[in-house]
Amino acid sequence: MKLTKLLCAAALGCLMAGPALAQNQIVIKFSHVVAPETPKGKGAEKFKELAEQRTGGKVKVEVYPNSQLYKDKEELEALQLGAVQMLAPSLAKFGPLGAKEFEVFDLPYIFPSKDVLVKVTTGPVGKQLFQKLESKGIVGLAYWDNGFKILSANKPLIKPEDAKGMKMRIQSSKVLEAQMRALSALPQVMAFSEVYQALQTGVVDGTENPPSNMYTQKMHEVQKHATLTNHGYLGYAVIVNKKFWDGLPADVRTQLEGAMKDATEFANAIAQKENDDSLAAMKASGKTQFHEPTKEELDAWRKALLPVHKDVESRVGKDLMQAIYKEAEAAGFKM
Ligand code: LMR
Repeated sequence: MKLTKLLCAAALGCLMAGPALAQNQIVIKFSHVVAPETPKGKGAEKFKELAEQRTGGKVKVEVYPNSQLYKDKEELEALQLGAVQMLAPSLAKFGPLGAKEFEVFDLPYIFPSKDVLVKVTTGPVGKQLFQKLESKGIVGLAYWDNGFKILSANKPLIKPEDAKGMKMRIQSSKVLEAQMRALSALPQVMAFSEVYQALQTGVVDGTENPPSNMYTQKMHEVQKHATLTNHGYLGYAVIVNKKFWDGLPADVRTQLEGAMKDATEFANAIAQKENDDSLAAMKASGKTQFHEPTKEELDAWRKALLPVHKDVESRVGKDLMQAIYKEAEAAGFKM
């Protein structure tokens, strides 16, 4: 007991002896689950650089990648409790928070192009979704891109029927669950940090992710096949603890908003290339065989997966879905 007290006192002494600046510094702990060399990982580092520079060191951003601090579910709890201040969870992970509308982004083939996606996230839909977070003690700051997902497994997935009976790891989204069920596969919700091992040991047979995540987690070393279905989108919402954000001095908050705006432009500008490079690197490694579906094969995947839209309409909201279809149609796509 005495020893504990002594250690505490010593630790406190060290803290108090720190430089004056350190005492007044505002610390933002930014936790995420992916590797530093991904679009999200690089976006977080860019935000750190700009935030520290523009606040003249008043703010220190500590980035914790690779689930170092928290796994998927825990990080959202930590944010609400104020144990971390900033996160960028994938849009597929907001359901457990009670913001199930975000799962609209998981609908297979809902975004016919990245341009349509940008229209949606930067328009009224993006704003409305962020408003839903306020009552949970969270402020939405930005949407960050990753890319479109591909399917991987230890056997070829050429036709939708090939996925039948396979255990497929998914994020915690009911839309993704419905998507795997539409393929007669067996969806298994699992934290991102556990996927590599689950694939390696055969706890699951396959998964879906954009190439950048697949490559940086070395999933290509434990998946023999992948099909470039690009069937669904993976993006992020950068979110912050509302109490923390509202409590910042107004000038600092404005500087941080500017840093976030520029970090967002940076992250979204590199996402496509990061994914292209990751795919090229995985192809070069020769560990996974990548299948580029023919037009007929793609039609078959679409046909198998599009019924998911109707299946989950009451969960994610018909109006929300219609708003996205409208953006796609305005861009000349037939939905
Ligand atoms: C996943 O869990 O598959 C992804 O959401 C991880 C991420 O944050 O990109």
